[in-house]
Amino acid sequence: MTDLPESFEPGLPAQAVAAAPPPARRVWRHARLATLAEPTGWGLVERGAIVTEGARIAWIGAEADLPALGKGGVEEHDLGGALVTPGLVDAHTHLVYGGQRALEFELRLQGASYEDIAKAGGGIRSTVAATRAASEDELLAIAAARLRTLRDGGVTTVEIKSGYGLSFEDEARCLRVARRLGETGVTVRTTSLAAHALPPEFEGRADDYIDAVCRWLPQWHALGLVDAVDAFCERIAFSTAQVARVFAAAGALGLPVKLHAEQLSDSGGAQLAARFKALSCDHIEWLSDAGVAAMRDAGSVAMLLPGAFHFLRETKLPPIAALRAAGVPLAVSTDHNPGTSPTLSLPLMIHLACVDFRLTPEEAVRGATVNAARALGLADRGTLAAGRRADFALWSHEHPRELAYWFGHPACRGTVVAGALTPPGAPAPR
Ligand code: NIG
Ligand code: FE
Repeated sequence: MTDLPESFEPGLPAQAVAAAPPPARRVWRHARLATLAEPTGWGLVERGAIVTEGARIAWIGAEADLPALGKGGVEEHDLGGALVTPGLVDAHTHLVYGGQRALEFELRLQGASYEDIAKAGGGIRSTVAATRAASEDELLAIAAARLRTLRDGGVTTVEIKSGYGLSFEDEARCLRVARRLGETGVTVRTTSLAAHALPPEFEGRADDYIDAVCRWLPQWHALGLVDAVDAFCERIAFSTAQVARVFAAAGALGLPVKLHAEQLSDSGGAQLAARFKALSCDHIEWLSDAGVAAMRDAGSVAMLLPGAFHFLRETKLPPIAALRAAGVPLAVSTDHNPGTSPTLSLPLMIHLACVDFRLTPEEAVRGATVNAARALGLADRGTLAAGRRADFALWSHEHPRELAYWFGHPACRGTVVAGALTPPGAPAPR
C-alpha cells in the first residue's frame, strides 16, 4: 500500500505552495468503473474508487487497494454502486442560436428537401435572422439551459460553434456567449463557423464574404474567442477553394481546423481538410475511399453525427467499415442545431450510432469520450486514469454497454466536473 503525498501539484515554488489553499481532496468509493484507459476493452473495475485532488484524478483502482490518504481533510463520497465512465465529450454542437425550425421539419415531412428549403432562403438563414434579433443575454439564457440538459445527460466537455451570426459582431456575440458558458463548470471549446452559409447582405458575392471572414478571423482570435475553425463544404454552402482560403487564414493564426464534409454529396472536402491536418471531418456520409485514405494519413477523426442522419431521414451511411479498416478513430456527437439535429442527448446518439451506423457499444462509447476528446485536441480527458481531468459521469447501469441499449430516458445520475459533484438539474454553469 503506497501513501499518497500531501499534494499532487508538481513544481510549484515554495511561496506559491504556502499562499495557495490546497486543492480539495475527495475520495469516491463504491463505484463500478469503466475507465476506457487501454486502447481496447471497457477497463472494468467491479468495486472501484477514485481519489481526486482539485480538478485532477490523483488515484484510481480497486477500492480494496485504496492508498492511505495522509493527513488533512478528505471529503468522502459513497457512489452507491453507480457505474462511472469518463465524462462524455460532445465535440460538435451549434448550441448558440435563436428561434427554432419546427415548421421546416413539418414541411420536410411533407416532402420538401433540406436543400430545397435552404435554396428558398429558409434553413440556416432563418436561424441567422432569429439569432441576430436576440440579445446576447437572451442567447446566453437559452444556451445555458441547453448546456444544462446536455450535462444532465453526462456531458462534461462541449464544443460550441458559431455560424448563425454571419457578421463580424453577430458572430462575436455568439462566440462570447459560448465563452461565458465555459466560465465555470463544463469545459467549452469554441469554434468559428462563420463559413456556414452566405448571409443575405452578401447575396451573389460568396467570394467577397469569404474575404470578409478571412479579415474577421484574426480579430475574433485577438479577442480570445476562437479555439478552432470550421466550415460547411457543400454545393449549397462553400466550395473547396473557398474553404481552403478560410483554412489558410486559420493556419496563419495557428488555429486547428475541422470540416462539415460530404454530408449531402462528395465534394472532396475530406481531402482538402487533410491538407490542413484537420482535427476531424464531420458527417461524411458521402465520403469516398480517397477521402478515407486522406483522413487516415492526416490523423483526422471521423465525426459521426447520427442525429442529423436520423432527422434528415438520410439513407446513405457513412463508410464505417472502410474507416474502421483504415484505423481512423470514430467519434460520435449530437450536432445539436435547430435545422438537422435538435437533440440534447448524447446517450441517445450513442444508441443511434449502434443501431443505424452499426458501431459496437464500446466503439460508440469511445466515440463519445476518448475519440471525441481527440477531435478537440484534448489529451487530458476521455479516459479515467491518474493525472487526467476529474470529469466523470455517474449512471444507473450495471454495465457500460447499457449506455447504448436503453434509449430515450435519462439514466445519468450526475456528473463530476473538475472534481466537483453536480447532480442532475443543478443550475447551469455561468
Ligand atoms: O451540422 N450542415 C450544416 N450545418 C448544420 C445544420 C445547420 C442548420 O440547418 O441550421 C449541421 O447539420
Ligand atoms: Fe454541424
